[in-house]
Amino acid sequence: MSITALDIGTQAIKIVLVKDNKHYQVTKAIEVKNKLGLVAPKSDQEALQFSELIANLFHDYKLDQSDVRLSLPEYLVTSKVIEIPFLNDAELASAIGWQAEQAIPIPKNDLSLQYQVLQKPDKKTPNATMKVLLVGARKSIVEKINNIFLNIGIEATLMETQMFSVIRSLDIEASDPETIILHMGASGNDIAVIANGMFEFVFNSKTGSNLVDQSIAQSFNLDNQQAEEYKINYGLDSSQMEGKLSQVIMPIINNLIIDLQKTVRFFSQNHPDQKIKRVVLSGGPAQMKGLTEKISQELGLEVLQAAPFAKAKGQLPEKNQLSFSVCMGLIERKL
Ligand SMILES: Nc1ncnc2c1ncn2[C@@H]1O[C@H](COP(=O)(O)OP(=O)(O)OP(=O)(O)O)[C@@H](O)[C@H]1O
Ligand SMILES: [Mg+2]
Repeated sequence: MSITALDIGTQAIKIVLVKDNKHYQVTKAIEVKNKLGLVAPKSDQEALQFSELIANLFHDYKLDQSDVRLSLPEYLVTSKVIEIPFLNDAELASAIGWQAEQAIPIPKNDLSLQYQVLQKPDKKTPNATMKVLLVGARKSIVEKINNIFLNIGIEATLMETQMFSVIRSLDIEASDPETIILHMGASGNDIAVIANGMFEFVFNSKTGSNLVDQSIAQSFNLDNQQAEEYKINYGLDSSQMEGKLSQVIMPIINNLIIDLQKTVRFFSQNHPDQKIKRVVLSGGPAQMKGLTEKISQELGLEVLQAAPFAKAKGQLPEKNQLSFSVCMGLIERKL
């Protein structure tokens, strides 16, 4: 049994194949540039280009089609944890639509809703409440993505928003400290909090790694590709280029740090007896030189990098391992 996991990012398409789900035997780990720069088609024309791109990938890399798993970008989806009075399963099933309407800003006729009870007391008492995770996606866009795969003869076995895959790939347990997960990308960053092993919230900020490229390109009169090379080679290392490069990158990183500080405060306001204790970084841009140290210094927290292949064996990628968290999380999901 083989699993093929695809994470289509605006910059890069990441693909991981494993042979044996139990032992995570990786047979291929591929990263290719996304020539379209799109993660979901909007028009028919884009859908056509997208189909061609996907069909070529399956053909060129001889990808197995038996169990294909896809990630959905966070911005297509709204994930929220709500606290509601204790309900039994049947009551919950009939009340959930209304609850979702209040919590999720997607019109009812375009909403595809999934929910999961996160916390529920054993017995119903007068003030008993339960926590339910709502995940709402835009049906129209999800269907478009699904159809692209159906057109080339592939029925995806799973479509999941990327933060849930990232969280699964981290193997966080209930006894682990309160954690911020920062999943970084070329076009945006997702920031989530996990406490007591449970998902609390996620939000998306648009300050992706592309902004760093643009800023370097402008400041040093380079094209974006050269700018990206400088970013990757030197990052926040202030001993390089007389500190000029790190000076250009820093304002963007400072905005990210403000977002993280807000997250720490927001969590404490809602959980006065708890505190965020650490930050875990994932995604390609999280590999930037000096980033882990900078975040740790500014927030006064432990900062770790994810290790998406910790449990895997086989043909692991030699570089950019942090880019593959989403794929590994998709693979680890039990269907
Ligand atoms: N060592 C590094 N230092 C800084 N940036 C890096 C490094 N390695 C990769 N990157 C950046 O990571 C980005 C690619 O990461 P990734 O593949 O996770 O993005 P993506 O999934 O395509 O983006 P998105 O999810 O926002 O659509 C590029 O902007 C690349 O320049
Ligand atoms: Mg990505």
